[in-house]
Amino acid sequence: MENVLIVEGGTPLRGSVRVSGAKNAGLVLMVASILAEGETILDNMPRIRDVEVMIQILNEIGVEAKWNENSLSIYSPSGKIKTKTSYELTRKLRASNLFLGSLLGREKEAVISLPGGCDIGSRPMDLHLKGVQALGAEVQIEHGYIYARVKDPKGNNVYLDFPSVGATENIMMIAVKTPGTTIIENAAKEPEIVDLANFLSSMGAKIRGAGTDVIKIEGVEELKPVRYAIIPDRIEAGTFMVAAAISGGEIMVENVIPTHIYPIIAKLQETGAIVKETESGILVKSREKIRPVDIKTLPYPGFPTDMQSQMMALLCLAEGSSVIVENVFENRFQVVDELKRMGASIKVEGHTAVVEGVKKLYGATVKATDLRAGAALILAGLAAEGQTTIEDAIHIFRGYENIEQKFNSLGAKIKVY
Ligand code: EPZ
Repeated sequence: MENVLIVEGGTPLRGSVRVSGAKNAGLVLMVASILAEGETILDNMPRIRDVEVMIQILNEIGVEAKWNENSLSIYSPSGKIKTKTSYELTRKLRASNLFLGSLLGREKEAVISLPGGCDIGSRPMDLHLKGVQALGAEVQIEHGYIYARVKDPKGNNVYLDFPSVGATENIMMIAVKTPGTTIIENAAKEPEIVDLANFLSSMGAKIRGAGTDVIKIEGVEELKPVRYAIIPDRIEAGTFMVAAAISGGEIMVENVIPTHIYPIIAKLQETGAIVKETESGILVKSREKIRPVDIKTLPYPGFPTDMQSQMMALLCLAEGSSVIVENVFENRFQVVDELKRMGASIKVEGHTAVVEGVKKLYGATVKATDLRAGAALILAGLAAEGQTTIEDAIHIFRGYENIEQKFNSLGAKIKVY
């Protein structure tokens, strides 16, 4: 797998680009599909590394997943499937922790390896476990695995101390097949939660309130497999919108649901960029001056943490200083040291980063520490003078489909080695 990405800086990007299906919707829908027996077809699926790993995990537990153009066919057999996911595969993919809810929903048991921490934080699962235990699961943690089994399944109320996306998804997936009523309070409201609820409802689940703080679920006996098209990736859309602003160009970003990216549109407009909703997508036109803005990341509908690094790259070139507060993850400023190698002036104090705008960024050899940090380094490389070499680029290919082709079609000069 390629591991180095080289960006030649200095070319304003122009043209239109079509956003792929959402990684964080596709992954959870792949896991949720095992709640029905038979063939599920997911359309608009992005061909990215995380989806390939998820395909391997599904095949390993006895669910046959395979590509059919840009659709994924997932055949979930009748009868029992394996309820233990392999350590090496699940370590590669945080979203594998979503098998907790779907295996408990389908088989009443699950053995999930504790997801390794990653570069943006420790990624605990206390809220996931609180949720499944409330619905009757007994949980033990031994040798790095979570052993869970439901003896007396029944619906219940669950209050989430933090509106965790993954915990909300896991509770939804066990609750749809747990007898009785489950109410999730302080639920996550991200568009990917709504997509999961729409998918499960089309399979016959009884879910109300997805997209609000309170989700109400009536358990049902059986769910049917369906064909379903996943939503576009709002973070990929935001990444290309920032690319237009930082490169001094103009990009039409197609296949976007505007309401999913209002926080990104608003913040980009505050920096002075012209952002317009049009028939064919979101048009972003840069202006020569980038105004400094303050950003606080928050759960949806607040400013998304997955866009924080990308905005930081843009604000490195603003006329003045910006304050960025990361409220969702405890360690999501890894990209700062890499941006500083390119000439950025950033000071981090705990959850706060103060970005002093500089006149220019310079190409350098940098490392992608996580998916979004990698995307931010591409953006900085587009604006920098000279060549930027991004190592560990594998992180970027985890979540962005054909990223170098998409950027090069807009006039960028990116090579992958
Ligand atoms: C999902 O991760 C996304 N991943 C992340 O996208 C995204 O950044 C995140 O939601 C927030 O929007 C997928 O959907 C596959 P959380 P998830 O549970 O579910 C704390 C990307 O770049 N927490 O909402 O793991 C946790 O520590 C990735 O595409 C607990 O304390 O996020 C974190 O600080 C990165 N206890 C905060 O909640 C728990 O039991 C948000 O985590 C669970 C979470």
